[in-house]
Amino acid sequence: MDFSHPPADPVPCARQWIDHACSSSGNPNPDAIYLSTVDPDGRPSIRTVLMKGFDEDGLVFFTNKRSRKGRALEVNPRAAILFHWDHLQRQLLVEGDVTHVDQKRDDEYFQSRGRDSQIGAVASLQSESMPNRGDLEARFHQVQQEFADGPVRRPAHWGGYRVSLGRLEFWEAGDHRLHDRICYERDENGGWTWRYMFP
Ligand SMILES: Cc1cc2nc3c(=O)[nH]c(=O)nc-3n(C[C@H](O)[C@H](O)[C@H](O)COP(=O)(O)O)c2cc1C
Repeated sequence: MDFSHPPADPVPCARQWIDHACSSSGNPNPDAIYLSTVDPDGRPSIRTVLMKGFDEDGLVFFTNKRSRKGRALEVNPRAAILFHWDHLQRQLLVEGDVTHVDQKRDDEYFQSRGRDSQIGAVASLQSESMPNRGDLEARFHQVQQEFADGPVRRPAHWGGYRVSLGRLEFWEAGDHRLHDRICYERDENGGWTWRYMFP
């Protein structure tokens, strides 16, 4: 991002920041994002997930759709996402509307995971109360046996969400706390407007 001459389209620049973070050393999980949702009572919640796609159509992550976040998104299909790359002194904020990824992509991604993570995804009743750890292990072994002879079937409630790029905010640390900060928002015609913000 050239903060003195901001580009008209911020998406290639966001992509560049993500690619740079992923190719640089110093952060073992550069694609980890903080995902914030709001439940039907207006209560926000946040957790880490892994970003599995980013382009002009939005940012993709995968999860159990019966989880707390999934239930919130069902009612309130909007999300705020934060990347923080401390080693690069950058943060990137993404906000937008949330939709389901198509099932073909859900299947492709599920199949790309190791067999044990597939089994783990089926076994975990994500976000439900668990009386003790043994329950998770027992469910894991049960699913292992269930699919012993073949591929692990993706549960219908496990898949991806896409967060549209409604707002993108770039932040980069500067000397004397005079940080650079620029916010892009989609206009009605699908273009972008941008403004600088006090840091
Ligand atoms: C580095 C990291 C990556 C994670 N990636 C995912 C992920 O891609 N999908 C997911 O469902 N949970 C992921 N988790 C677990 C979530 O943070 C969270 O505990 C889980 O999704 C349940 O959240 P919820 O109860 O708010 O729905 C990850 C946790 C960490 C620390």
